[in-house]
Amino acid sequence: MFAKQTYIQRRNELRRRMPKGGIVVLPGNSEAPRNYFDNAYAFRQDSTFLYFFGLQNADLVGVIDLDEERDYLFGNDYTVDDIIWMGPQPSVKELGASVGVEHTAPFAAAKECVQAAIRAGRKVHYLVPYRGEGTLLMSNLTGIATDSHYAHCSADLIINVAAMREEKSAEEIEELEKAFRIGYEMHTTAMRLTREGVAERFVAGAMEGVTHQFGDGVSFHSIVSQHGETLHNHSHDGICTNGRLMLVDAGGESVNNYCSDHTRTFPVSGKFSPVQRDIYNIVLNAHDEVLKVAKPGMYMDLHNTALKALAEGLIGVGLMKGNADDAVAAGAVGLFMPHGLGHGLGMDVHDCEAMGERGMRDFSKIVARADEVDTCIMRGRWRLRPGTVLTDEPGIYFIPALIEQWKGEKRCADFICYDKLGEFYEFGGIRLEDDLLITENGNVQLGGDLHIPITVEEVEEYMAAHR
Ligand code: GLY
Ligand code: MN
Repeated sequence: MFAKQTYIQRRNELRRRMPKGGIVVLPGNSEAPRNYFDNAYAFRQDSTFLYFFGLQNADLVGVIDLDEERDYLFGNDYTVDDIIWMGPQPSVKELGASVGVEHTAPFAAAKECVQAAIRAGRKVHYLVPYRGEGTLLMSNLTGIATDSHYAHCSADLIINVAAMREEKSAEEIEELEKAFRIGYEMHTTAMRLTREGVAERFVAGAMEGVTHQFGDGVSFHSIVSQHGETLHNHSHDGICTNGRLMLVDAGGESVNNYCSDHTRTFPVSGKFSPVQRDIYNIVLNAHDEVLKVAKPGMYMDLHNTALKALAEGLIGVGLMKGNADDAVAAGAVGLFMPHGLGHGLGMDVHDCEAMGERGMRDFSKIVARADEVDTCIMRGRWRLRPGTVLTDEPGIYFIPALIEQWKGEKRCADFICYDKLGEFYEFGGIRLEDDLLITENGNVQLGGDLHIPITVEEVEEYMAAHR
C-alpha cells in the first residue's frame, strides 16, 4: 500500500475530471470459493478499487461523491467468530483512516447510499463488473438487472479511470520494477530447469513458486509449453524433448499487485538449430525495432513496425514474397502473428481491459466516444503517453489449422510461400516479450541494466553456464 495521500489525491483527481452531479461506486472483490465457501482461490483485490482505496480486504465498497469532497467506505467489522479463524483485524473505521476516508459504515449502508443518490436524481457511475459476485452486488446496490450493466455502466468513469491508471506515477513504476525482478527470476529459473525429460509442469511449478517467494503470485496463468504456436496454451502436460523450442510467457505480481509479463522462447537442448535461430532472429529484430521507435503518440504504427520487420525477415528466409510494406497492408503477416503487438501493463496484466474492447462484450458506449478514448482500452485508438507501460511482444507461429485455412482460401497468396510451410507444421512458435515505459521522448525497458537473456548468444550462454 502507498501512503494515504496517494489515494486521497487520486480520488480528488477523479472528482476533478468527472462531471458533477453524482457518485462513483467502486466495489472491492469478495472471496471466490474454489469448491466450498471456506476454501477460496487466493484473494485478488479489484485493481480499480485498489487504485483509489488501496485496501486488500474482501467485501468493501468505496464511494466517491462528485459534488462534495467526501468519500465513503462501506464494510462490516469482523466478529469474534471471524477473529477466531483469522486473527485480530482492523476495524472498517481504521481501514478507512489508513487511506484517508473518514466516513465509514456497515456494508448494508452502501445500498442505502446508492439508493439515496438515485432517489435524488443523481447519476450513479460504475464500471461493468467482471465476476459473478460483483455482478450480483452491483445489481443489488443499484436495482439494475444483472444482464443490463453494459447499458448502464458509466462511459465517463471508464474513460477517466483508464486515463488515470494508464499514466504511471514514480511510485507505481518502482512497483513495476519490483515485478520485473520477479519476472527475471521466473524466466531464468525456467531456463535453468528446462532439459530433455523434464516435465513442463515441473518448470511451470518452480517458476510459479518464485512468484510466491518474492511477491503475490502470478499475474496470469503461466504459459510453459513446447506448443508455442497455441497462443494461450495453459497445458503443462508435455515432457521436454531435445530439438523442441520451449515458449514461456509468464509474469508475477509485486506485493502491491503490479504485474510483469515477459516471454522467452529457448531450445530444450540449450542450442538453437540453424532454422530455429533464423526464425528467432526475425522475431528478435521485430522486438528490437519497436524498442528503437516507441514514443508518445504511437501504438498502431508500432504494431505495423513489428509486422514490417517480420515481413522483411520472412521474405529473407523465403517464407514470404513480394514487398514488405504491401504484405503488411494486405494483412498477410497475420498468418504468422495473429495478435496485437502489446497491451497496457499495470495492476492488471492487460491493464484496464475489463473496461475496454477486450473485456466488455458490448463496448459500443466507448466506441461512441472514440475521440476521447486514447488509452489501452481501445487498441485501435491507443496513443501512448509518457507514463504508459506496455508490452512489446511480437511472435512468429506456425499454426497448422490456420495455414491450412488460408492456403485453402488462397489468402494473400501473392505474399505467402505456402509450398514452403509444410515443413514448419512441427516447428511450434516463437514469441519474445519485454515491458516498456514510455518517456517524454521515447521509451525505456523496465529492468534498467538487467534484462532476461534474449539474444541467441545470451540464451545459449546462460543455459550452458547454469545447467
Ligand atoms: N502474457 C499473456 C498475454 O499477453 O496475453
Ligand atoms: Mn503480454
